[in-house]
Amino acid sequence: MNRKGIILAGGTGTRLWPLTRAVSKQLLPLYDKPMVYYPLSVLMLAGIREILLISTPQDLPLFAKLFGDGKTLGLSLSYAEQPKPGGLAQAYHIGAGFVGTSPSCLILGDNFFYGAELGKLLASAASREKGATIFGYQVADPTAYGVLTFDAKNKVTSIEEKPAQPKSNWANCGLYFYDGRAVEFARTLRPSARGELEITDLSRCYLQDGSLHGERFGRGSAWLDTGTAEGLLQAAQFVQTVQTRTGMLIGSPEEVAFRKGWIDAAQLRALADAIGKNAYAEALRQIAAGS
Ligand code: G1P
Repeated sequence: MNRKGIILAGGTGTRLWPLTRAVSKQLLPLYDKPMVYYPLSVLMLAGIREILLISTPQDLPLFAKLFGDGKTLGLSLSYAEQPKPGGLAQAYHIGAGFVGTSPSCLILGDNFFYGAELGKLLASAASREKGATIFGYQVADPTAYGVLTFDAKNKVTSIEEKPAQPKSNWANCGLYFYDGRAVEFARTLRPSARGELEITDLSRCYLQDGSLHGERFGRGSAWLDTGTAEGLLQAAQFVQTVQTRTGMLIGSPEEVAFRKGWIDAAQLRALADAIGKNAYAEALRQIAAGS
């Protein structure tokens, strides 16, 4: 069965006010692209083409304006409202009809991933038919995240949401591959002390089932925080630095669609022409020309 993708781009973004008072955080610029381009590219890199984007009733039309039905990117994109933030696992209530009993991948619309090993890790997670795969990234202070511990065989041995005394420095990234039981497991969840359906509780269902696999991003990979003004600027500077130095794009859905063979060079050029005359469009033209 085809794996379905969900991008969760809801939330009130209060930590970034006034930046996000009028517009969704996931539409803010990360250097030369809207933030949501990056997680969308990650799903596409994992080979996922059927994608549901969940956001607030106010912001959803803006995402639809950005991507439409996704056809020009070789995708099938649909949209669903999250009227009130009720936790990340709520994505599997809202998206129950879309996901059904298919395997799926949930990515948070504000998560930025980069690294040479990304494609390989995504491919192996996407090909795992039974159980779940979640990802760890080593951070100096993990208290704001889900925190993971692993055994020698990369099985996750514990997962705790925002612990005051973390058992490791491995933060749980906002990228989750689940098998066809995610909707069923999500139905059994109850709101946590902060009143949310926690994604860690959904992952814990797989932990208890003995089928929660963990992958650790190594040195040389970047999982950056975009949740503060400082983090946002740092992530933008990271993209600018690497793109300018290498002449290659990071987080371009147009490029991924082309490299995956979902659109051809003429279609990529048409996307560039619709953007017009700027550095991003020019980079797409060069890719279409074979560089
Ligand atoms: C959420 C999850 C947490 C995870 C983080 C990744 O935190 O609850 O487990 O580590 O996303 O971005 P929140 O954004 O709700 O604080």
